[in-house]
Amino acid sequence: MQKTKIYAHRGSRGTKNEYPENTMLAFQKAIEHKADGIELDVHLSRDEHVIVIHDEDLDRTTDGTGFVRNHPLDELKEFDAGQGEKIPTLQEVFELLSGTSLELNIELKTNRFPYPKMPQKLLDMAKKMGESRKIIYSSFHLPTLLTIKKLDNTAKIAWLLESGIIANPERAIKASNLDALHITPTMFLPYLHRFEGLVDKIRIYTVNDAVEIRELAKIGIDAVITDVPDVAREVLGA
Ligand code: G3P
Ligand code: MG
Repeated sequence: MQKTKIYAHRGSRGTKNEYPENTMLAFQKAIEHKADGIELDVHLSRDEHVIVIHDEDLDRTTDGTGFVRNHPLDELKEFDAGQGEKIPTLQEVFELLSGTSLELNIELKTNRFPYPKMPQKLLDMAKKMGESRKIIYSSFHLPTLLTIKKLDNTAKIAWLLESGIIANPERAIKASNLDALHITPTMFLPYLHRFEGLVDKIRIYTVNDAVEIRELAKIGIDAVITDVPDVAREVLGA
């Protein structure tokens, strides 16, 4: 059984957003906190740069307003994403991770706006910048993931689900040629028998409780996606 990995959810943001989510500060902290990977969310700017931010709009996490897709990169860079941090581009994150072995989970926020150019753009960037880094593309929007797999059948795709009961996880994985499922503790823990032989294809989000992190690691899932990689590291050891 391989050791459960720790992915920093939107960076090592902390439970109270101590390090603002999806900022370079939160990603630097993830490295310091010895996370094994980083989860981040992406959108496209008006001039088609890959922008790291959770929401479709700027309002919650920055001092800007309106949709990310309506602004070019130079305008987006004017906004404060918390504690004076700027909104990062994916390119900047790749550069930060260069020379580290951290895995990168890129969540495509394509539910509301499909960003048709995003899949190819990400694959091109990964090829150019990814070195040998493990990159996982995840999304709540299954068609986006299928497009990625069609463009590159070696790309790793993970379907994100937030509620419901997966009657047959093995069939769900096989049917869409998925590499993993990213699901919540309540979709997983009460139904462990259904995941027999599959736990290495399961990542669970967002797990911040030390007891739950320990329990999930004992089961042997691939990774916990957590706001508190420092806590998780203390629980799981080096
Ligand atoms: O990838 C896990 C998690 O990030 C999915 O939900 O809303 O935090 O992006 P959200
Ligand atoms: Mg996310």
